[in-house]
Amino acid sequence: MKRILVTGGTGFIGSHTVVELQQHGYEVIIVDNLVNSSIEVLDNIAKITGIKPSFEQFDLADPAKTADFFNRNKDLSGIIHFAAYKAVGESMQKPLEYYRNNIGSLLNILEGMKTCALGDIVFSSSCTVYGQPDELPVTEQAPIKPAWSPYGNTKQMCEEILRFSAASLPIKAIALRYFNPIGAHESALIGELPLGIPNNLVPYITQTAIGLRQSLHVFGNDYDTPDGTAMRDYIHVVDIARAHVVAIGRMINKRMKHNMEIFNLGTGHGFSVLEVIQSFERVSGLKLNYKIVDRRPGDIEKVWASTDFANKELGWKAEKKIDEMMTSAWKWEKALADRKGQQ
Ligand code: UFG
Repeated sequence: MKRILVTGGTGFIGSHTVVELQQHGYEVIIVDNLVNSSIEVLDNIAKITGIKPSFEQFDLADPAKTADFFNRNKDLSGIIHFAAYKAVGESMQKPLEYYRNNIGSLLNILEGMKTCALGDIVFSSSCTVYGQPDELPVTEQAPIKPAWSPYGNTKQMCEEILRFSAASLPIKAIALRYFNPIGAHESALIGELPLGIPNNLVPYITQTAIGLRQSLHVFGNDYDTPDGTAMRDYIHVVDIARAHVVAIGRMINKRMKHNMEIFNLGTGHGFSVLEVIQSFERVSGLKLNYKIVDRRPGDIEKVWASTDFANKELGWKAEKKIDEMMTSAWKWEKALADRKGQQ
């Protein structure tokens, strides 16, 4: 059985990827410091797959602990690296923490890969590297624009570190640029667990509908889009997770065409904030309380992916539509409320 290290495997995308890996016959070891996730995720993964993944709790930004981990785990077949800070706004307040954590942990992992003669890493990147693209849909060849936040900058820098490492070290890397991952596993056992007030649209919608927040603020309706609200390429988290299984299989089975490859993970369709709200109202049968307010500083107007390269090269395609995404997000929010009610 091939053994895969999943860093950040108790997080939102990480946990869904662990499920898919296990269901495809991989053995998983998770490393996570649990700063933004919960240990109970391990039991919930086990409820879905019947297998509790191995787990170690430490900070990958700590060079000694990371080196020690790799010295003890020389039998890994590959790494999927999710562990990182991910809040755009917070990164503006704490730039140094973001650089130290996101860059430092990747460097420590790459050092560890040298120790283990381990060559394959899948990296969690983001469409944020494109900024506001000049042309839509945005392809992987689009120019990388100056970052709008330290968070986005760490994604750009990590991609560059991987590119140069793959050029001169025995390392192969696949960077997956996610568009807007939303939704939750159909079991409603794992999903997104935002700490405090959510920054992202969909958890804010479901928390408003369940009564945790009073009203959703729609940030701006004067964009150059059909209904004036900003547009994004929302993609179901399980579709994103499946792409990681394909990517790691491509590496392990030596099907990569270059030492570093980059793929967009999106659906190819843009939805406006109002369209997302309408989808939620359709699937939940509820009316959402929302009001239009000023634009959020730093937001881009519109972005959606060209999916041709991922579809052709990976043989992967996002399958779930916006209503399925919103249905699963709502089921997850209700399951969370039920669990809280039982406590
Ligand atoms: N929005 C609202 N109200 C809210 C929250 C969001 O109207 O309460 C709007 C935003 O203005 C934006 C859209 O909903 O137009 C999506 O916002 P999100 O915060 O959900 O997602 P972003 O596109 O801003 O950010 C996401 C990830 C980032 C990543 C970025 C890449 O959260 O990590 O995509 O573009 F960097």
